[in-house]
This record gives sequence, C-alpha cells and structure tokens, in this order.
Amino acid sequence: MLAWLRDLLGNSPAVELAKELGCDMHSHFIPGIDDGAETLEQSLEMIRAMQALGYRKLITTPHIMSDFYRNTPEIIRGGLAKLREAIQQEGIPIEVEAAAEYYCDHAFEKMIGTHEILTFSGKKVLMELSYMNPSDNFDTVTFKLQTEGYTPVLAHPERYPYWYHNIEQYANIREKGVLLQVNIGSIAGYYGTGAKRIAERLIERNLVDLLGSDAHKMGHIALIEKVSKERALHQLLDSGRLINQSL
Ligand SMILES: [Fe+2]
Repeated sequence: MLAWLRDLLGNSPAVELAKELGCDMHSHFIPGIDDGAETLEQSLEMIRAMQALGYRKLITTPHIMSDFYRNTPEIIRGGLAKLREAIQQEGIPIEVEAAAEYYCDHAFEKMIGTHEILTFSGKKVLMELSYMNPSDNFDTVTFKLQTEGYTPVLAHPERYPYWYHNIEQYANIREKGVLLQVNIGSIAGYYGTGAKRIAERLIERNLVDLLGSDAHKMGHIALIEKVSKERALHQLLDSGRLINQSL
C-alpha cells in the first residue's frame, strides 16, 4: 500500500471526508476507454484506494465525446462487467456502478430522446462543457434533457474560465434546475487559482450540490488528503447541501 494512503488510515480528515460523502459520482475507472485508467491494474489500484479512504460506492463516468471518445452504453456496460468481476475476485468491498460524462456537443444533443442516455441515481445525467469556449447548445441541451425527464448535472463548473467574470451565470444555471458538481481537486487548488476561487465562491453562494473526485489517476485521489484541510470544504460539508450520501 502507498505510504501516503497508509498514513491516511485511521481518523484522518481525508477518511472523515470520504465517509461523509459516501459516494463518489465522477471518475474514470473503466480501463482503456478514455483518458482515465489505462489498465485493469491501474483501475484496481485506484478503487482500492477509494475504498480504503472510506467511500462505499463509486459511480464511474467514462467520457462520451464524439471527436475523441466514441463510447456507447454497450462499451461502458461491457467494461463495467469486467471491472466488477475483477473487484469481486480481489475481494474489494465496494459497490461500483457506471454512468457517463457527456460532452455537450451536437452529437449529444441529437442523442437526447432518440438514444439511451446513461444516468445515475434516478435520471441524473453528468455533462461537461468545453474548457475553451462557451457551448452554443448548452441551453438547448439542458432544456431537451429536462423535457425528457432527466436532471442535468454540470461537471466542474469552476473549470470554465469564460464564466469567471460573471458569478451570476452559475446562479442562473442552478435556478434552471441544473445541479452543480465541483471537483475536489479544484478546492485543493490543483486546477489553478481561478478554479479554486470560483469553487470557493460557489460554496459561499450555496450553489454546490455534489463533490466529485474526477479521478483519472492516483494523483487525483491524493488530492482528497490535501483538500481535507481546506476551510471552504468544511463550509460546504457544514452547509448540508451535498447530496452525495443519498446517491
Ligand atoms: Fe471527468
């Protein structure tokens, strides 16, 4: 076991955090189908670490992005079945489900109402936007999802720099019924000061519904230790707004 993880065991703040969240709903643990785990061994190492921290359930969310990751429900289900078999063989006591992280492109827009959409905890759909430019179809996609009875969940809203100048944008999105999922690493400063500052402002404004690891590699899981010392994180946990535990 890695030294940092061994040090964490016991009643460290990171263990307290993982136990309090219970469920992590954003990660890339299915090997070889996106930019997350490359091998089954890497997947198992990460899942073992998440279980050791105290998570009881993982909803893993491979990318679906028409230009780069042409994953389908069949590919993701196939990967999940193999992963679950390995988890069982290894005797890791944790529940693992799969949904997807949909990129808000035109291919996704066309899928809504015509193809199966992978959801979690009822009809929640995780989607992400470009880091570079505002999406021209975000409002349309949100509306279409809601019309079909889905609840959109926006992944890492604090990582879209084109919204940084307008915090009200986030309140408007939340008001429209889109749940907001902040990355644990953002609060820890891993994605830069801009993302950290916006994550803190979203917390101050009570706009955060979910916390996710967005773990692609072991280094992202190590951030759970780093973040557990952040004041903003405790403010968020104390707010009682997070719904991770109910997933
Ligand atoms: Fe992700």
